[in-house]
Amino acid sequence: MNRAKLDSIREAGPAILPSVLNCDFGNLMAEVDRLREAGTEILHLDVMDGHFVPNLTFGMPIVEGLRRHTDMPLDVHLMISDPATYAKPMVDAGADMLTFHVEAVKDPVEVAGKVRDLGVGVGVAINPGTPLSELDVCLDSVDMVLVMSVEAGFGGQSFNPVAIDRIRELRSRYPELLLEIDGGINTSTIGAAREAGCDLFVVGSAIISSDDYTVAVSELNDAMMSAKGGSR
Ligand code: DX5
Ligand code: ZN
Repeated sequence: MNRAKLDSIREAGPAILPSVLNCDFGNLMAEVDRLREAGTEILHLDVMDGHFVPNLTFGMPIVEGLRRHTDMPLDVHLMISDPATYAKPMVDAGADMLTFHVEAVKDPVEVAGKVRDLGVGVGVAINPGTPLSELDVCLDSVDMVLVMSVEAGFGGQSFNPVAIDRIRELRSRYPELLLEIDGGINTSTIGAAREAGCDLFVVGSAIISSDDYTVAVSELNDAMMSAKGGSR
């Protein structure tokens, strides 16, 4: 529960962040151990409320359980209608980075300030169908932009290349801003995202549907690092 974790997230980049969305929740701790052993350093947690998105996943108890189980930073992606109300409970549960959707809130600057006051990193996420200009008002108030490369809500969707142009534009306007991409990232799409200037790559099915997480992570890492400018 401190912004020192934000520095460790920043320093980890370029990095692959596994999303546990489609993992075996009957064996969550073992899944996290496998992801750690595969070489990943930060966990991406997809919180959905069945309202902002049609899907429903988990809330604070799972975040708190993972917090007790691992020292990996927890990057919490809030796909919920009321992120301001749940920000403190999520931070109390152990979130290190909290990302809310710009589409979900009336005043993103106010919500970003509220999250920042809780002492964690703050990110703002944007869906592919939302004009990038919606972010303009709050880019000076956040540590990270999460550029969605699928419509938020489900794992396993195909990659929308509009995200690449967005990463490129944000990177040229904000050289120091942490940029994360989420949705449809695999060995065929990760290179273009890295070339465009992305730092953090959320990967769900390309790891979880593999029999061997270590092999999957290492192939993704190779594809990321061999992109132009891949290794920083
Ligand atoms: C989608 C979630 C993603 C999802 C990614 O709304 O935010 O984090 O788990 O899964 P893949 O990599 O399968 O698109
Ligand atoms: Zn996500």
